[in-house]
Amino acid sequence: MFDQLKNSTRTNIICIFGHPIQHSMSPIMHNVAFKDLGLDYVYIAIDIAPNNLKQAFDVVRALDIKGANITVPHKETTLKYVDEISPLARRIGAINTIKNENGRLIGRNTDASGAKKALKEANININGKNIMIIGAGGAARALAHSFIEEVNNLVIINRTSDRGKTLATELTKVYHKEVLYKKFDNKIFEEMLPSIDILVNTTTIGMFPNILLSPIPKNYLHEDLTVFDIIYNPLETQLMKYASEKGCRVLGGLDMLIYQGISSFEWWTNKTPNIELMKRSVLNEFVVK
Ligand code: ATR
Repeated sequence: MFDQLKNSTRTNIICIFGHPIQHSMSPIMHNVAFKDLGLDYVYIAIDIAPNNLKQAFDVVRALDIKGANITVPHKETTLKYVDEISPLARRIGAINTIKNENGRLIGRNTDASGAKKALKEANININGKNIMIIGAGGAARALAHSFIEEVNNLVIINRTSDRGKTLATELTKVYHKEVLYKKFDNKIFEEMLPSIDILVNTTTIGMFPNILLSPIPKNYLHEDLTVFDIIYNPLETQLMKYASEKGCRVLGGLDMLIYQGISSFEWWTNKTPNIELMKRSVLNEFVVK
């Protein structure tokens, strides 16, 4: 990675904070794009446990780190530690990108537009559809807020009731449209999935290294369902495998990763990266060497 550094006294540092972080492909795709454009930037993944997050942002200021991506499980807590929050990120209640402008940390959310662009490119239309989102963390917030105005019905499923209820209540209030919350339970999937058009998994169930797990058993899926799993490592999750076997339309998280990453990259550098190159760099990582 470091072979691209041009001037070690001026190199701009970008990082990603997550816990865990070993699944992340963001360093690969951003470093490839920095190098391609001849930018003196480096992108580093850092594992930060939740109780060290505040100190991590102090370090960002102290070291003049130019920007960061924020991932599981810090997207919501980060709101407390930045100096300015974009209106969209504030409405969503989650930040996935930070820019350091002369010591002021500004937070934005690029997950929402990244997910919508990925769906659009895959010709998946959410308009008038019945949607089920599993999870109520930062990613679920971004997707729910960006979908709600277009869909027919939205139901949030979550393991922790408080978090799920809070999100559903908030959406209902902000958009004047009733959003249901149901507790994560196989009985709920059995009951509700027959009337769902698009199922979105935003939980980490099935993410590397736990690749054999699926949030939903295969027998509750049906062929009229579109399944969007925002996990990109592995490229095909167990849920996606089950969905394909059942004849569902299936979309994984790679394109959302790329599109949210492009928005962040453009914000940090004011340059447009080569999307195909970024995508190829991630795909190459999955080729068995
Ligand atoms: P992000 O901000 O990227 O969305 P997150 O805030 O950690 O990440 O959210 C992860 C989601 O996955 C949460 O909805 C979490 O459920 P809880 O709110 O109950 O924690 C869900 N999740 C993770 N592991 C899970 C598991 N084993 N079973 C059910 N839900 C799980």
